[in-house]
Amino acid sequence: MKIREFLPADLPMIHGFFDQMGKESTTFFNQNDVNRNFAVKFVTEKNKSIIRWLAEEDGKMLGYVFLWDIDTTLPWLGIAVREDRKGQGIGKKLVEHANHWAEQNGKGGVMLITASDNSRGQYLYESTGYEKFGVHPSGELLYIRRFITFLDPELEGRFPYIPGF
Ligand SMILES: CC(C)(COP(=O)(O)OP(=O)(O)OC[C@H]1O[C@@H](n2cnc3c(N)ncnc32)[C@H](O)[C@@H]1OP(=O)(O)O)[C@@H](O)C(=O)NCCC(=O)NCCS
Repeated sequence: MKIREFLPADLPMIHGFFDQMGKESTTFFNQNDVNRNFAVKFVTEKNKSIIRWLAEEDGKMLGYVFLWDIDTTLPWLGIAVREDRKGQGIGKKLVEHANHWAEQNGKGGVMLITASDNSRGQYLYESTGYEKFGVHPSGELLYIRRFITFLDPELEGRFPYIPGF
């Protein structure tokens, strides 16, 4: 399995990934095709504050992870794994890939929201270092993975960059 950024030629494979989604993935990830429409926009998109990766094996898309607001110190994460490949560690590899990119690119952390009844998602996030922060105004749970604690930035080797200060 290879994790890499989207390429224009991937478009049919990306549609195939959304087509195979069942009830759980549609409910938690793709209601009204919101995330399909967001994913396929990449071909013509002018907004450069989004980065999307797919996990590929034998010409099939096994999973999808993306970060947006990557021009801020705290980007947001979204993820989904192919139905017949859930529970095999692919989600964990994808989250770790995105976390690694964010940390390497100087981000303070990564945020996400997830439905309170998405226990599989919550288990995944907690096993990849995310902490439950509270309830987001949308009603979903807000999780944050922090790379800088802000307790002692000098010891941590860098100060957070806060635009305007
Ligand atoms: C949530 C999702 C991305 C997880 O991906 P995955 O590849 O199935 O997850 P993994 O196999 O990497 O498992 C991650 C952890 O969850 C655990 N897990 C797997 N299935 C589980 C289940 N049904 N209930 C609870 N925990 C579960 C695994 O044991 C693993 O923990 P471990 O490494 O400590 O053993 C995937 O199930 C999915 O696409 N769900 C639908 C879309 C969705 O909910 N997206 C997120 C919206 S916020």
